[in-house]
Amino acid sequence: MELMVAKDYQEMSLLAAEVIAKQVKKKPDSVLGLATGSTPLGMYGKLLDMVNNENVSFKNVTTFNLDEYVGLALQHAQSYHTYMMEHFFSKIDIDLSNTHIPYCESKFINEIEVCNKACAEYDDLIEHLGGIDLQILGIGSNGHIGFNEPATSLETGTHIVSLTEETRIANARFFSSFDEVPTHAITMGVGTILKSKEILLLANGSNKAEVIANMFSGRVDTFLPASLLQVHPNVTVIIDKEAASKLENKYQTNGHI
Ligand code: PGA
Repeated sequence: MELMVAKDYQEMSLLAAEVIAKQVKKKPDSVLGLATGSTPLGMYGKLLDMVNNENVSFKNVTTFNLDEYVGLALQHAQSYHTYMMEHFFSKIDIDLSNTHIPYCESKFINEIEVCNKACAEYDDLIEHLGGIDLQILGIGSNGHIGFNEPATSLETGTHIVSLTEETRIANARFFSSFDEVPTHAITMGVGTILKSKEILLLANGSNKAEVIANMFSGRVDTFLPASLLQVHPNVTVIIDKEAASKLENKYQTNGHI
């Protein structure tokens, strides 16, 4: 894995936006895997600047988001559909019909085969379009990527997942009460993620320092889903100094691991 330690959140966001801009300039019809959460907000902001001022275009780009809650209407303020529209899609020149976010209505959670069909179709479409060229990831403080939560075994394909209490507590800051945080989500599986040709993982802040240090442990552990990225041949990790603060000294400056 390639590690870049940025001096702060702004620099992390700029470096990440530059990786995406380079990708879409090199291949205008790129297939991008996108993430939500607080971490990539700055990156989307920098990309908007590049679209407005530097001739970066998403006109022919296709996107697949990592995940979505089950149990929120698409228009809900905290749905990832709303997040993507507000922070990115409505502000760039992308064709909305080329943007994809996994979705399964909560009423189908008890008819799991309906959700399973939606999951299989999501993976099939990614494959049909040639696979993801560049996948952006955040990381949960419990090591999840997408909503692949720590567990004894991990699903490879897109699937429905029960959210851990830790994740629901971490995300409660976006809702008016903990009880409003959905209990389920739909997420790309670790296999879907690892099939991407290139992966870019971002993290900032001291609350991510421990999980980042553990991710570079050299061991693959399903209780730390992000550790699976160590087996992928083309992963870049861009983090700020605070998220790097528990890495061994040899990793504290930019370097290849
Ligand atoms: P965050 O979430 O960017 O809001 O910290 C990351 C994640 O849970 O994957």
